[in-house]
Amino acid sequence: MLLNYKQGQLQFKDEPTTLSSLTSDYQGPIYIYSGKQMALRAKTLQEALPSQTEIYYALKANYHKDVLRLFIACGLGMDVVSQGELQWSLEQGCPAHKIIFSGIGKTEKELIYALKVGVRQINVESLPELYRLHALTQKLQLRASIGLRVNPDVDAQTHPYIATGLKNNKFGIEVDALTECDQLLKSNPFLIFKGFSLHIGSQLVDLNAYSEAFEKLVPVIKQWKAQGYHFETLDAGGGLGIFYDRFDEAQEIALAHEWGQRIEKSWKGLSDKILVEPGRWLVAHGGVLLTRVEYIKKTSHHTFAVVDTGMHHLLRPALYQAKHRIVPLVKKTSLSSSSLQENDLMTPQKENRLSLQSYQVVGPICESSDVLGAEVLLEDLREGDFLVVLDTGAYGQVMSSHYNLRPEAQEIFLKE
Ligand code: LLP
Repeated sequence: MLLNYKQGQLQFKDEPTTLSSLTSDYQGPIYIYSGKQMALRAKTLQEALPSQTEIYYALKANYHKDVLRLFIACGLGMDVVSQGELQWSLEQGCPAHKIIFSGIGKTEKELIYALKVGVRQINVESLPELYRLHALTQKLQLRASIGLRVNPDVDAQTHPYIATGLKNNKFGIEVDALTECDQLLKSNPFLIFKGFSLHIGSQLVDLNAYSEAFEKLVPVIKQWKAQGYHFETLDAGGGLGIFYDRFDEAQEIALAHEWGQRIEKSWKGLSDKILVEPGRWLVAHGGVLLTRVEYIKKTSHHTFAVVDTGMHHLLRPALYQAKHRIVPLVKKTSLSSSSLQENDLMTPQKENRLSLQSYQVVGPICESSDVLGAEVLLEDLREGDFLVVLDTGAYGQVMSSHYNLRPEAQEIFLKE
């Protein structure tokens, strides 16, 4: 249980601040992050993965500066996908040798910057990118540590927008194109080969495709090794999923262990180190989005709760039909137990069901897709009530926009 109600007030577990204390001077929606919960996740993941593993946090999930500082203090490196993320990581104190530069569209300017600061590894996504690095390293007389992201052509069984390992996806290098990579690498001593990388998609809760991808890679690795290549690293990517419909810590930890076991089983010591790039698993549960009800609008079809946040702050429901739990900040009716099981919030107890109503929780944006939650069962809502959208620590604030010229959400990081 990550959040619970204490005397009717919602609160992160073991975090002294009640969330309602943050509403005294309410100016608009707030993302609230729990440093304690995020630190715990990092520690748990470190324990679940093989000892040769180095974790590089994919900060695209949440680049709040305190989140980065926390993970840097936990010993994690950073997985970046732009010069912006690279600079930001350096500014927060991550040394360049603990940064992996991934991403499909690295510009020349970005590559030059990465070469000059000397990142640990550049994960190359295509032959033209490798040619670009070939030219740049020779021109600048600078070395580049190269990871080759291979497209294994597997179906990660996730939302199509976040599946990346199929051959019709734009990501990674096809196995057939690796021969040309090999020739290029051999022709240029500035290109230092480090290993292969994989990332087959995000929000994976079925890990079979992971093993499938690895198994496809193993013979290629062996072939490259036979040719004299040394694999310092093997980057297993990110993508470990969470359960948005509940918080089942034991099952999520089991999933992390399963991930570790599957990696270890396929890897079989083929490289010196295993790298991983998780984002969501580390931060999603550690963040919530606090919002206030502006209007209760009853129509012949629905009761709408029009709130002051929406797809401009949290795009996931509109873009991926993602379902985030939405709960009241303060329970109105006192429940018999002072600490309510979090799952009870979304599947309310029988004794409460009578007092609950079904709401369409919608935002203020002029789009019908701006629905944060459909048929959400909640206690009778009034204007001015606060609601909390759960599990929004990953891909929340970072994907927000100023659509309709609305201001961005505030962010509060509860330090450990
Ligand atoms: N490594 C690479 C190369 C990636 O592209 C990604 C995510 C990650 C690591 C981290 O994946 P994670 O562990 O967080 O699943 N906006 C979407 C997710 C997009 C993921 C993009 N790449 C969402 O809200 O579900």
